[in-house]
Amino acid sequence: MADLKFLLLYTLPILFLSTITRRFVIYFRDRKFIAANGCKPPRTIAPLWDPIFGIDFLVQCLKAAKDGRYIRFSGGRLIKYNYTYVIKRWAFDTIYTAEPENLKHMLATEFNNFKLATIRVNAMVPLFGRGIFTTNGPEWAHARAILRPSFTRQNMAPLLKMMERHFQMLLLQIPTDGSTLDLQKLFFCFTMDTATEFLMGRSTYTLDPSRRTEAERNFVDDYLTCCFEAVRKIVMGNWQMFSYNRNAGAARDRAWAYVDGFVAVADDYDDDDDDNDGAEYNFLEELSAQTTSRTLLRDQVLSVLLASRDTTASLLSSMFYELARHPHTYAKLRQEILSRIAGELPTEDELNNMPYLRWCINETLRLYPVVPGNTREAVCDTTIPLGGGKDGKSPLFVKRGTAVVYNLHALHRRPDIYGTEVDSYKPERWDGLRPGWGFLPFNGGPRICLGQQFGLTEASFVAARMVQSFEALEPRDDEPWAEFYSLVMCSKNGVKIAVTPAKSTVEN
Ligand code: HEM
Ligand SMILES: *[C@@H]1O[C@H](CO)[C@@H](O)[C@H](O)[C@H]1NC(C)=O
Ligand SMILES: *[C@@H]1O[C@H](CO)[C@@H](O)[C@H](O)[C@H]1NC(C)=O
Repeated sequence: MADLKFLLLYTLPILFLSTITRRFVIYFRDRKFIAANGCKPPRTIAPLWDPIFGIDFLVQCLKAAKDGRYIRFSGGRLIKYNYTYVIKRWAFDTIYTAEPENLKHMLATEFNNFKLATIRVNAMVPLFGRGIFTTNGPEWAHARAILRPSFTRQNMAPLLKMMERHFQMLLLQIPTDGSTLDLQKLFFCFTMDTATEFLMGRSTYTLDPSRRTEAERNFVDDYLTCCFEAVRKIVMGNWQMFSYNRNAGAARDRAWAYVDGFVAVADDYDDDDDDNDGAEYNFLEELSAQTTSRTLLRDQVLSVLLASRDTTASLLSSMFYELARHPHTYAKLRQEILSRIAGELPTEDELNNMPYLRWCINETLRLYPVVPGNTREAVCDTTIPLGGGKDGKSPLFVKRGTAVVYNLHALHRRPDIYGTEVDSYKPERWDGLRPGWGFLPFNGGPRICLGQQFGLTEASFVAARMVQSFEALEPRDDEPWAEFYSLVMCSKNGVKIAVTPAKSTVEN
């Protein structure tokens, strides 16, 4: 009884007072920072019915996601709210932006003031380890430093040879009698097969049943389970700490063990070893010259697999979705490619010097950014340059821990950058276009995609080989575009097309 009295009389009031004092201290500290940096209140605060948890906003998001239009929904809000707005809830604010200057500031100029969102890191580390794609600060810088040489010293010639082998398998799966196929499914298999061969020296052969073994099949399944679980956790956000999925844990253990097998081989690699299945290039082997930590090697391999596989497949799928619907564009692209490399396999140089092909790729990445939404989190009290004040031209205060969400759907359709008909696929618009920070398919600043050149060359190679092999494409799907948005964005209904084979094809 006496204890309770003591508690009521002294402890609680002291607790209460100290909380109030702390609030005041923070309030005045924030005010000082805001004044010193010229920050103004946000021009647009999005209205909420439920200002505490923002349930109404959450319901809208989930509904849009269910209908395959989450990115269009969230991008549409940004367009409506003049490209920067704030959502205020009881506990925290979230900033949304599609403003080139804000992106440049956050991703480059003030890079050190922002990090990957904690939710993403917490969701991915348990499944993919601490690789370049899932870490911040010095740990990330170290990963970037040891990976960079493998990307800058890249001789693509052996890799193109490797891709051609897998492309031949892909061709075998395309019916030439005019029946319908889902090209997207094939592209995802293709990039799985090339990425695993590039990274580990052993392909998963998802396109070649005669060479695929049980171990590879299981690895692909386990990898997909991990991806699925990572997305589930990201969607759950802060609630993910209460979720435990034994199935995913077991898949993770098996996938890690599979990669560990290759790490061990790479570590004591012997030049006369032909065990690596005729692979002319081995990423892991080169990486193992940079570090002796086997865990580090495995985590980097998983990170790069994640970063390289679905991304390139998504770009190729969206591109052929549009090409099938734009016969004139396809014919023009075909003319460019055949006039330069009629019946030959393309070299890296040739692939990088076909302007119309690059226009088609850029236009695809503009309308269907592979990673359409992304988030950074402030590591300290900081600012972004636009979005404050009545005209939105003043800086906004970004309190430590605040998430800044950016959306490429809105950014890539800004009429002030891309002119008219921003929703249409028009490769010609790239003639003379220099969008700078208004075009960010590979991100920008110190964390810009390490595999940009690799991904562009792979996509160009496959596009050129497709065009050499097929005279025309025909869409076989009347549904409007719906997005399937997990780690990357692609088409919910696949890319259903039929092909007309070319009269003469490449002699191998
Ligand atoms: C069309 C294909 C691709 C697209 C659109 C793409 C896009 C991106 C984007 C947007 C990021 C930044 C993610 C973030 O920081 O939140 C990124 C990072 C990265 N990408 Fe790519 N990527 C592609 C292909 C590839 C390929 C083929 C590889 C490797 C072979 C690769 C390796 C990486 C790596 C290692 C990172 C992490 C960089 C870092 O955090 O420092 N990417 N990519
Ligand atoms: C967006 O900007 C336009 C022109 O400056 C203005 O008329 C409109 O009210 C703004 N909308 C919002 C939601 O701030
Ligand atoms: C495609 O976009 C990139 C990035 O903005 C740009 O550097 C390049 O010049 C563009 N290519 C063409 C052919 O317009």
